[in-house]
Amino acid sequence: MTNELIFATNNLHKLTEIQHIIGDSFSLRSLQQIGCFDDIPETAPTLEGNALLKAQYIFEKYGKNCFADDTGLEVEALDGRPGVYSARYASDGHDFEANIDKILNELEGVNNRKARFRTVIALILNSSVHYFEGIVNGEIISERKGSKGFGYDPVFKPLGYENTFAEMPLLEKNKISHRALAVNKLVDFLNSLK
Ligand code: IMP
Repeated sequence: MTNELIFATNNLHKLTEIQHIIGDSFSLRSLQQIGCFDDIPETAPTLEGNALLKAQYIFEKYGKNCFADDTGLEVEALDGRPGVYSARYASDGHDFEANIDKILNELEGVNNRKARFRTVIALILNSSVHYFEGIVNGEIISERKGSKGFGYDPVFKPLGYENTFAEMPLLEKNKISHRALAVNKLVDFLNSLK
């Protein structure tokens, strides 16, 4: 029998990609597919807290197993900011360009450019909570390079690579990304239940 698992997202691209990796032992459903159009709160002060809030909301309302993700860019010299506030760092407008400008301004003249992307997935399976984390270490370069990807990609150069995320073909980024690492851990866990 196939188990239904809700992914608290409306990003069908993410959903299809993860379904492909999981195989047919779990059947993923998006929020839209279960008829959920609510504005789910993301008010926790940590990535773990926000991922859990989203998963809990669905579990409590629909009584179904589900998982949710949350991602942030953590800059060492900025004490881990923007972190959980990555999407709305410069303003509530979710403006990628303004967010990058703010980081570059804050890091002007700063030698320590170390940063990392961190994704946390919270899974609620039969009332138990499980977390999966994916991290990519790298640095914030001083000016934008590349036009692919989204968010902070033009100024983030992963450790061991010459290119920023925004200069990499999407397929390459998606193989090494923080999200991919977290999803792979989730999938390994789900497959171990088979
Ligand atoms: P979310 O939790 O996946 O919605 O990510 C929150 C925010 O983190 C996004 O709005 C982006 O600003 C940033 N972010 C997440 N993943 C990436 C990425 O792969 N590249 C660049 N920025 C990202």
